[in-house]
Amino acid sequence: MTAGVGESNRQTLQVDLGERSYPIHIGNLGISQPAKFAELLNPMIAGQQVAVITNETIAALYLDKVLNALGQRQVDVYQLQDGEAYKNLASFEAITTFLLEARHNRTTCLIALGGGVVGDLCGFVAATFQRGVDFIQIPTTLLAQVDSSVGGKTAVNHPAGKNMIGAFYQPKAVVADTTVLTTLPPREYAAGLAEVVKYGVIDDVDFFHWLEESVAALHSRSEEALQQVIFRSCASKAKVVRDDERESGRRAILNFGHTFGHAIEKLAGYGEWLHGEAVAIGMVMAAELSVRHSGFPQSDAQRLRALLKALGLPVTLGGHRLETEAMIEAMGLDKKVNDGQLRFVLARQLGDVYVSDDVNAQVLREVLDMQLW
Ligand code: NAD
Ligand code: GLY
Repeated sequence: MTAGVGESNRQTLQVDLGERSYPIHIGNLGISQPAKFAELLNPMIAGQQVAVITNETIAALYLDKVLNALGQRQVDVYQLQDGEAYKNLASFEAITTFLLEARHNRTTCLIALGGGVVGDLCGFVAATFQRGVDFIQIPTTLLAQVDSSVGGKTAVNHPAGKNMIGAFYQPKAVVADTTVLTTLPPREYAAGLAEVVKYGVIDDVDFFHWLEESVAALHSRSEEALQQVIFRSCASKAKVVRDDERESGRRAILNFGHTFGHAIEKLAGYGEWLHGEAVAIGMVMAAELSVRHSGFPQSDAQRLRALLKALGLPVTLGGHRLETEAMIEAMGLDKKVNDGQLRFVLARQLGDVYVSDDVNAQVLREVLDMQLW
C-alpha cells in the first residue's frame, strides 16, 4: 500500500497488487462539479463505452452528476430497484443481457455507483462479462467507502446463503467522494462506522484512540473527519488485502465480529438488523470470547462497547433474544468454517488479532448465554 497525499481536501492511496494495483481517491472529489469530476474520472476509462450500474435511490441523487462528467462516449445506464434482495442471479443476468443488447464489447468499462449491493453485483458482472472487463467503484455509503469497494470481493446471493456466488476481481479505481455521505440515512451511516471501528481493533490502535476522541466530529459528519476515517480504514484494508488477496489466511481478520454477526443477521431474518449493526453486536461477542480465550483485557472490551454505543450502534440484541444453540448452528453454516471447525477472529489486545480454530465449545456457549439478551 502506498499513501500519496494530494490537495488537502483529497488524498490518494494505492492498493499494491502488482498488475492489479489501483488507486483509491478519497475526499471532496467534486462529484457536483462536472469539470473537476471529469478530470478525475476520464483518464481512468480506456475505451469508448461505459455502463453505469446504480439503483433508483442513488440515481435520483447522483446519476446526473456522474453522467455530466463522462463526456462524449457511449454511456448506458442500468438502474436496479433498491435493496439486498436484488443482489441475485436474476439481476446479474438482466444486466448481462442489457450490456449485450446495447452491444458493449470487451473494452467497455462498468461503473458501480452505489453502496455495497450495487458494488458487489456490478463487480461480479465485470468479472464475468466477456471474461472480464474494467470496472470503477464509486461507493456512496460509508460501508462501501471503507470496506466493500476495496479488496476485490464481488458476489451475488443464493437462496441458500449470502455471497455464495462470486469472484475475486479488483476494480481499476475506487472514487470515494465524502460529500455523497451527507444524504446517507443515519442508521446506514452508523452501520458503516461499525466497520470503521473494526479496523481500530484489528490493525490500528492509534486509530481506535482517535475514534474515541472524535465522536462529536463523526456525528456531525465533518468532511475532515470523514476523509481521515476513510483513508485510515482503507489503509488498513489495503495492507491486509495486499498480503493475502484471496483469503488463504490472514485476510480472514477482516471478519472480526462477523461470524457472530452473520449468524445474528440470518436468525433474526435479513433486514431486521443492518449488516453493520449485526457486526457491532458480533464484535462485542468476539471481544468477550477473546477475554476468556485470549487474555484480551476486560477493560478494552468495555472500551469497544462504549465506543460503539457512542457512535449510535447496538451492542446487545435488546429485546430480540436469540437461542444459543440456534446461533451455534447458524455459525456452523457460515463460510468461515474450516473442516467442520468453527473459526473465530480473536483479539489479544486492541490492534492485535489472530484467527483461531480451537475455541472451546463450552466457553463459546457461556459467552452466547451471557450476550444473547
Ligand atoms: P446498500 O448498498 O444496500 O445501501 C444501503 C442503502 O443506502 C440503500 O437503500 C441505498 O440505496 C442507500 N444509499 C446508498 N448511498 C446513498 C447515499 N449517498 N445517500 C442516500 N442513500 C444512499 O448497503 P451497504 O451497507 O452499502 O452494502 C451492503 C452490502 O455490501 C451487502 O450486500 C454486503 O454483503 C456487501 N459487503 C461486501 C463486502 C465486500 O468486501 N465486497 C464487504 C462488506 C459488505
Ligand atoms: N469484508 C471482508 C473482506 O473484504 O475480506
